[in-house]
Amino acid sequence: MLTTLKPVLAKAHKGNYAVGAFNTNNLEITLAIIEAAVETRSPVIIQTSEGAVDYAGMDYLKAMILTAAKSKVPVVFHLDHGKDLKVVKKAIDSGYTSVMYDGSALPEKENISNTRKVVAWARRKGVSVEAELGALAGIEDFVSVEEKDAHLTDPRKALAFVKATKCDALAIAIGTAHGAFKFKGETVLDFDRLKRIKELTKMPLVLHGASGIDAALVERTKTQCSILGDCARLENAHGVSDAAIAKAVKLGINKINVDSDLRIAFTAAVRETLLSDKKAFDPRKILGPAKTLMKEVVKHKMELFGSAGRA
Ligand code: G3H
Ligand code: 13P
Ligand code: ZN
Repeated sequence: MLTTLKPVLAKAHKGNYAVGAFNTNNLEITLAIIEAAVETRSPVIIQTSEGAVDYAGMDYLKAMILTAAKSKVPVVFHLDHGKDLKVVKKAIDSGYTSVMYDGSALPEKENISNTRKVVAWARRKGVSVEAELGALAGIEDFVSVEEKDAHLTDPRKALAFVKATKCDALAIAIGTAHGAFKFKGETVLDFDRLKRIKELTKMPLVLHGASGIDAALVERTKTQCSILGDCARLENAHGVSDAAIAKAVKLGINKINVDSDLRIAFTAAVRETLLSDKKAFDPRKILGPAKTLMKEVVKHKMELFGSAGRA
């Protein structure tokens, strides 16, 4: 059932769980996400980045995700990291039920005024808005407290930001980073900062860069790598541990973005298939196992985030 972000996250905020937001670019990823949601009876956010829009086009993505939304579970059709206002406006006018406006790299005043503009466009169409304050970067990149404070989300500024913009959800920076190289070792997140932001804003909060970069899956991407000469694939990759995710949910995160974990599962399965079945040339035989593995990853996230059984 197609829905907007606001009611889905309002329930998650009240029930103290998080809903997974999974990036899609193609049919196999979309099928993996929706099948996992149906099987775990979980609400789900299916999101496309501006890069996905460049790759597949809004019309194809829309047709695919609205088809997924015909299932019984609540499905939010969301634009991830809309940085170009033209793309954000087009998404609002084209049938997305939720958009993220990402002005986090802009001076704060400009971020606020652009977010307000997006909120005004979105309200007219009943579309929800996620906004971002703070810079997503690995916490280990900051050597001093001052540097950390300058990049991570300031709790007081977060409160002023949500009051000024009236966004429906706020993405915050507490030490995660996009991609497969988030930490040098163990997960380090600023949980005190998260706690303070939640206490002040009392609203749905979003965690980006939340992939776990599972070591076993990374290992599976190295099938026969000595023969292929690419054993350095994803060397030193580290993500957010399941324990850290569980703690972040407990402290008030209600939307969790995952892309890299699906990319790794996809790569592992495609490599395994191509290397084990040297005669395969049917795309369904090559991509089917990738869909199955991505679905397992998504199901695990839905259990971990606490959204399973909430649909
Ligand atoms: O946060 C970024 C997402 O992983 C999307 O990545 O822009 O390469 O599609 P992308
Ligand atoms: P990961 O790279 O950790 O999967 O983060 C994805 C994300 O934040 C998409 O917006
Ligand atoms: Zn992100």
